[in-house]
Amino acid sequence: NKVVLAYSGGLDTSVIVKWLQETYQCEVVTFTADIGQGEEVEPARAKAQALGVKEIYIDDLREEFVRDFVFPMFRANAIYEGEYLLGTSIARPLIAKRLIEIANETGADAISHGATGKGNDQVRFELGAYALKPGIQVIAPWREWDLTSRETLMAYCEKHQIPVDFSSKKKKSPYSMDANLLHISYEGGNLEDPYWEAEEDMWRWSVAPEAAPDKPTYIELDYRNGDPVALNGEELSPATMLATLNKLGGDNGIGRLDIVENRYVGMKSRGCYETPGGTIMMKAHRAIESLTLDREAAHLKDELMPRYAKLIYNGYWFSPDRRMLQAAIDASQTYVNGTVRLKLYKGSVVVVGRKSDQSLFDEAIATFEDDAGAYDQKDAEGFIKLNALRLRIAAGKGRSQLS
Ligand code: ARG
Ligand code: SIN
Repeated sequence: NKVVLAYSGGLDTSVIVKWLQETYQCEVVTFTADIGQGEEVEPARAKAQALGVKEIYIDDLREEFVRDFVFPMFRANAIYEGEYLLGTSIARPLIAKRLIEIANETGADAISHGATGKGNDQVRFELGAYALKPGIQVIAPWREWDLTSRETLMAYCEKHQIPVDFSSKKKKSPYSMDANLLHISYEGGNLEDPYWEAEEDMWRWSVAPEAAPDKPTYIELDYRNGDPVALNGEELSPATMLATLNKLGGDNGIGRLDIVENRYVGMKSRGCYETPGGTIMMKAHRAIESLTLDREAAHLKDELMPRYAKLIYNGYWFSPDRRMLQAAIDASQTYVNGTVRLKLYKGSVVVVGRKSDQSLFDEAIATFEDDAGAYDQKDAEGFIKLNALRLRIAAGKGRSQLS
């Protein structure tokens, strides 16, 4: 009886280590991942050791995260409820996968996480875990214990000599935050009033658009099979690409979002997000698709997209329906190659140019000038008349909508 815990090294998950050892008399294995949250992961080792943990896993998953999760999702242009770029949602299946791999390696029969019983994250962790290992046990302390306030939590720390200065070195934020290479999120605190405007110093990754430079920044992104592979002519690994775009976007006030969203468990919740690099990639990918995708293939993608985004939001990354949609989306990206030029300026991303060797754009046909017979305008007459046939029949039978 051994449990693998998704361990951040912070106070809450440190309490969970103790609580698991005490409540279940079990061996705790900790797993801490660097997915680009911008905090050192190595200190988690000493903290776990101090709590008596013997098997400690610390992994750098940044490249895998962007290559196998973020990029595939961006091929679909996935957006939840018209706004949310799914920054937290897409990281959870990777954590679930590592938890299960480590459970298999260490012979653990259970996993545990620090998500509350009110949110989406518990669902994502656990659906992922069950999909990969059907017999796995799940322990979700937040759904079981009575340490529901800051005070009871502190009292528990005192009783078990858990050093509380873990997190007090840094300026304590009033928000529940989650960060990875794709985004940083803020929930709770004053944001629980949806009419309250977040104070400027809540935002950590971007400058305010009005404080961004008065001079635009131009960048050039090269795409290969729907993924960005080079920036200003230089090939970059997936994680480096996203980190670099985050910096460029953040410096130009790009990617802030303040929304109320529908959680899978049924409640509405207000969240603020910064997704600078993702916001740039979304624009750029659509621009390169606009040149290279067939119209109906593109429209079909757009119809499937909300469904695909909802699967990811609700935690169904490891599901047959997500895989099926992914296969279709990936197949559409064969010709999505080329270069997009973008202008970043005071919170906006504007596409100013795009080119591709596989472009379907035909200047000879599209031109407003003489097309030398490339397109016969007379063909349009019959095209319109046949498309109008059912409208004319209805109108002829007295259904004209002219009053
Ligand atoms: N509401 C967002 C989502 O469901 C962000 C969740 C943030 N998670 C957290 N543990 N702070 O994807
Ligand atoms: C949590 O409840 O642990 C964070 C919010 C969420 O998962 O939606």
